[in-house]
Amino acid sequence: MSQLINGKQISQQIRDELKEEVRRLKEEGKNACLAVVQVGNDPASTVYVNNKKKACAYIGIESRSYELPEDIKEDELVALVEDLNADAAVNGILVQLPLPAHINEDRIIRTISPDKDVDGFHPVSVGRLWIGEKGFLSCTPAGIIQLLKRSGIEIEGKECVVVGRSNIVGKPMAALLLRENGTVTVAHSRTADLKAVTKRADILIVAIGKKRFITSEYIKEGAVVIDVGMHRDENNHLCGDVDFDDVKPHTSAITPVPGGVGPMTIAMLMDNCVETMRTQEERS
Ligand code: GUN
Repeated sequence: MSQLINGKQISQQIRDELKEEVRRLKEEGKNACLAVVQVGNDPASTVYVNNKKKACAYIGIESRSYELPEDIKEDELVALVEDLNADAAVNGILVQLPLPAHINEDRIIRTISPDKDVDGFHPVSVGRLWIGEKGFLSCTPAGIIQLLKRSGIEIEGKECVVVGRSNIVGKPMAALLLRENGTVTVAHSRTADLKAVTKRADILIVAIGKKRFITSEYIKEGAVVIDVGMHRDENNHLCGDVDFDDVKPHTSAITPVPGGVGPMTIAMLMDNCVETMRTQEERS
């Protein structure tokens, strides 16, 4: 029998733990405020941003919204981020991606102070992750580690294969699995014999952005399969990068889409926000 990894339930558990922790930290005089910056009004981004603000309200931290016009100049956005860096009342800064094509995303990410980089996208955060220093973790990969740990799945010593090498998921995922003492392989679109590589995996993490790409032919019997993909199929139903019905019987545990990895990203963003409180000096 394959275990269904319930991301919705685990993310709720984390939010409830954080809510209680925030209550205690506030008693010590600590506070957190997340600045959420959205440029333009892409409907998908608006949904994500609203969910992030709701999550802040749920765990008891403040959020501030900055809704900027689509045609804002790059320099103006940089100036806003610099103001937020300098604002002692703001502990975390999140600039929702993607940004409009005329804005250099990389410049914006680098402008956010690494001390307020709750997305974990700044090169300093990435560097800290790779050398094992404390810092903000990229939220989706950090959420996947929580899914595995809280489902009783051991990472240490396991063959872990990550399919996909994006800066947001694949690369930080590899770093985190390595930190947990997994043996890590990163496969990607140029991998010569992808099936041969994925069939080695005790833990297979799929983030390739191709609808139902991974079928049972890619799976070692009894593997744990984590699906980061999110697509709409021909019938307008949500599905992942993994062909769930085909793959599930061959796994020991698997995440569904929706309700697997998705809900974990915001839970871990909240954890990064609470981290800004944990590290604050106690006020007398
Ligand atoms: N757009 C899609 N996912 C994310 C995310 O995790 N953070 C930000 N800032 N933008 C995103």
